[in-house]
Amino acid sequence: MSTLELAGKHLVLGLSGGIACYKAAELCRALVKAGASVQVVMTEGATHFITPTTMQALSNRPVYVDPWEDRAAADGSNNMPHINLSREADAILIAPASADFMARLLHGRADDLLALLCLARPLARVPLIIAPAMNREMWQHPATQRNVAQLRADGAHVLDVGQGEQACGEVGDGRMLEPEDILADVVAFFQPQSMRGQRVLITAGPTYEAIDPVRGITNRSSGKMGFAIAQAAAEAGAEVTLVSGPVALKTPRHVQRVDVRSAREMLAAVQSHADQADYFVACAAVADWRVDGESERKIKKDGSGDTPALRFVENPDILATIAQSERAESGALYCVGFAAESHDLLKHAQEKRQRKGVPLLVGNIGPDTFGHDHNRLLLVDAQGSMELPEASKLTLARELVAEMARRRAA
Ligand code: C5P
Repeated sequence: MSTLELAGKHLVLGLSGGIACYKAAELCRALVKAGASVQVVMTEGATHFITPTTMQALSNRPVYVDPWEDRAAADGSNNMPHINLSREADAILIAPASADFMARLLHGRADDLLALLCLARPLARVPLIIAPAMNREMWQHPATQRNVAQLRADGAHVLDVGQGEQACGEVGDGRMLEPEDILADVVAFFQPQSMRGQRVLITAGPTYEAIDPVRGITNRSSGKMGFAIAQAAAEAGAEVTLVSGPVALKTPRHVQRVDVRSAREMLAAVQSHADQADYFVACAAVADWRVDGESERKIKKDGSGDTPALRFVENPDILATIAQSERAESGALYCVGFAAESHDLLKHAQEKRQRKGVPLLVGNIGPDTFGHDHNRLLLVDAQGSMELPEASKLTLARELVAEMARRRAA
């Protein structure tokens, strides 16, 4: 993730008592590295797992624990940390949130500083994000599940729990998410929700067309742009399915990934999801041709100097196929194509938009962007064109997602 995703944000990081407090140290560091200012507040229980000194060193600020402490009075303020701390924050993040702390929150208890400031926060302005952490039996208990549901109904944003080995030795759901995942969810939380509830289907990466079991032809594509769009759409609140050719990239959070190899596999995967989608973004670099009659056995070099005679057949055009479907033509499915060109971008992008029959075509200069983290995009639609100047692929993806949502709504 790029470094200053949380620049200008002020977070209260609240720790309640649990072994996952050790991960809160890493989380605090990650939040600060992402540009946030972080004020740590701990329950008395949390101090049994990690010291305020550690959290102070990582956040560069004195840590609050005791509601009766008169520290604030010394600087001439009103000595009401529960009011001051909650007013200043862009969000309060409780990580870890123990089962007990969630139960106390739910009841509006105010028996320590952290619970008190959650209760005292201006509901409409200061969101509460909760990262639960507990033993799997405690997590599954109907009381906890009831509390989670009620906290959500009260407006809290409750994150998922992680799955796996727990400190107690048991294995299951309930451990706190890893710090990098909490960071990603917090970053996503601050993104505009322009695709809330929408379904987005995306292709990314190259396809691989086998010649024989050990050889094949493929296209140059790292998949980075398509994966960035998947992340941006998920952050914007969409349910995202990402159909990916062979790439070495991590699946963005909350994205359902389907791995494929050839163009025909990609088409089949896309067709099985297109009926439910609201948007289709064809970002993959699909091989135009495949070898006619893939050899089941390795083609051997026989020493004669003769080369194998390869014949090619054209692959299906996935984007054009989907763009011609009834749902796309009726406007129920909004299709977006990509064009990687080496020159005359506007002209080629306009032609390609017509040829593919899509409302929006996104052009980029291929050789400038292959494998890089930065790009420039040219958006071409029926009204004209618009440039998104050079930026990280994730920044561009977020802008593109907003543009898609705006065009679709119009
Ligand atoms: O001109 P070209 O066919 O390469 O157009 C590129 C656009 O079409 C991209 O959006 C790409 O994902 C899509 N495409 C496709 N199936 C193909 C070839 C291209 O979906 N067989």
